Amino acid sequence: MLYHSLSTIVASSFSAAGLPATNISISRSGRPDLGQFQIQPAIELSKVLKLPPRAIAEKVLPHLASVDLLLNVRVDGPGFINFSVADNFLAAEVTKAATDERQGTPLRTGQEIETVVIDYGGPNVAKAMHVGHLRSAIIGDTLRRIGTFLGDNVIGDIHLGDWGLPMGMVIAEIRRRFPDLSYFGEASDSSQPEDRRFSLAELTRFYAAAAARCQSDTAALEEARLVTAALQDGEPRFRKLWQGIVAQSVAAARREFERLNVHFDVWLGESDVHDTLEVLIEDLKARHIAELDQGALIIPVASDDGHDKMPPLIVEKADGAETYAATDLATIAYRIERFDPDVILYVVDQRQQLHFNQVFRAAEKIGLIANGRPRCEHIGFGTINGPDGKPLRTRSGDALQLSELIAQATAAASKRLVELGTLGSASSEENARISYQLGIATIRFADLSNNRTSDYIFNIERFSKAEGRTGPYICYAVVRANAILRKAETEDLNKIRLSDLGSDVERELVLGLLEFPEKLIKSYDKRQPNIICEHLFVVAQTFNMLYHRTQILTEPDPARRISLLGLTRCVASQLRLGLSLLGIESPDHM
Ligand code: ARG
Repeated sequence: MLYHSLSTIVASSFSAAGLPATNISISRSGRPDLGQFQIQPAIELSKVLKLPPRAIAEKVLPHLASVDLLLNVRVDGPGFINFSVADNFLAAEVTKAATDERQGTPLRTGQEIETVVIDYGGPNVAKAMHVGHLRSAIIGDTLRRIGTFLGDNVIGDIHLGDWGLPMGMVIAEIRRRFPDLSYFGEASDSSQPEDRRFSLAELTRFYAAAAARCQSDTAALEEARLVTAALQDGEPRFRKLWQGIVAQSVAAARREFERLNVHFDVWLGESDVHDTLEVLIEDLKARHIAELDQGALIIPVASDDGHDKMPPLIVEKADGAETYAATDLATIAYRIERFDPDVILYVVDQRQQLHFNQVFRAAEKIGLIANGRPRCEHIGFGTINGPDGKPLRTRSGDALQLSELIAQATAAASKRLVELGTLGSASSEENARISYQLGIATIRFADLSNNRTSDYIFNIERFSKAEGRTGPYICYAVVRANAILRKAETEDLNKIRLSDLGSDVERELVLGLLEFPEKLIKSYDKRQPNIICEHLFVVAQTFNMLYHRTQILTEPDPARRISLLGLTRCVASQLRLGLSLLGIESPDHM
């Protein structure tokens, strides 16, 4: 990897100068006119050595300057070291990357491999998914893809919201509307419950009606509570009805996630830990970790020194109902038991931050998290807003549904294709497939390229354009690069020589391509897909610049032509790989 190689080289120069060679940070230079790379002023080092950064830089300068690969080594400003790298080194590196299907990205081995459970998607049964679930699903699925590619053992879990009061509310609502269904007969009634199935649309309507009713009507709420309690206690006919409701919702979620190219390794839900809750709660009581507070069972989680005033975690309400928090604690135990993870990531709306902080603290108190293992991280994200700055909605004011969003993005892509006018004789079937691929590229790239924790405005006009930081723009670069390669036909593309590449754009493109592995790793380690999105954008943009300035196919010098084509192939495969790690399939043409 580029920075890794450079660090090794630079570190030995520091050692040769009698300086400690740790914590040397190298980056692309902020002043390209002074060099390609920059070593940060040795601030830390200057504190330790009690020397000004510039003096340190000057000490190491002759050693760096004597390394053949490094060119124009110079000290600037308060102690920045700027330098460039020899073309033959860059050419050798990019040739290696170009012929490697991992683009030079190392695969984790041995101790480096971590088992990571990622909790994302999290749709709720009997409710249509909304754009909040969209972000969770896209970010979580992308982290799953990148982590797996890097060599971690990743388990993606959808963690369905299939338990608790909402389930009781829906069942009570169905009973109100269809009291004659045998699910609701006398307990002594021996008739078998029928297999009456409700569609997701019906269920969503029932849930909405129940939620509205329970808000204003305490008797209705009480009834829903009783039904919930009976369901959780195992009332067989409620269970049967509930299973049907869950099956409908799961089928719908599968369809929508499939269309978004979002995948899961396990489809577990809140209900899967229900049977373990009682034991957990008894244990909490026995060990005096949980205490009664106004009838509710709570775990105090404020820090011991009273430094923060984090409110206690409620594990059981005064009416005996299990809470979302108790379920999350039990789920940690379940995951440890089943997967023994090093890390659990929760890709959930930022607004649930307090909840997760409380749960993680409680898990430590209980001893589920011991010596920092598993590391639990809440990967929060901002909201997707409409043009009015409020959470994205349909015209009628309902939360926008995923299926509708996909339809909108596909329609926008289709319109763009007509504008581009490049499809020519593509059949309408092919056209539809490409529009769909671009629609998904539009949605996923828009979401991932935005800073995870920021809110953003969903602007389909802008996101679907084949220019700017968009999915279609990157796809278009892949299509363009592939078209060149197709026309070039068979060539030996494995010899990229920078001596054949004249311009700064070409050198810039090589430098960009070589940053891929480290950008990808950083994206994963920081849980920030926008880092790799930005990288892909920069590569696509630099390639387009090259394309507009250079006649790649008709280049008369055969050696230079081969180098340009080799570079083009590296661009095509890197962008395609990068997009696939974002869950985006680039179309063959557009
Ligand atoms: N179903 C929840 C919701 O819609 C998200 C679940 C998040 N994951 C978790 N382990 N709590 O808000």
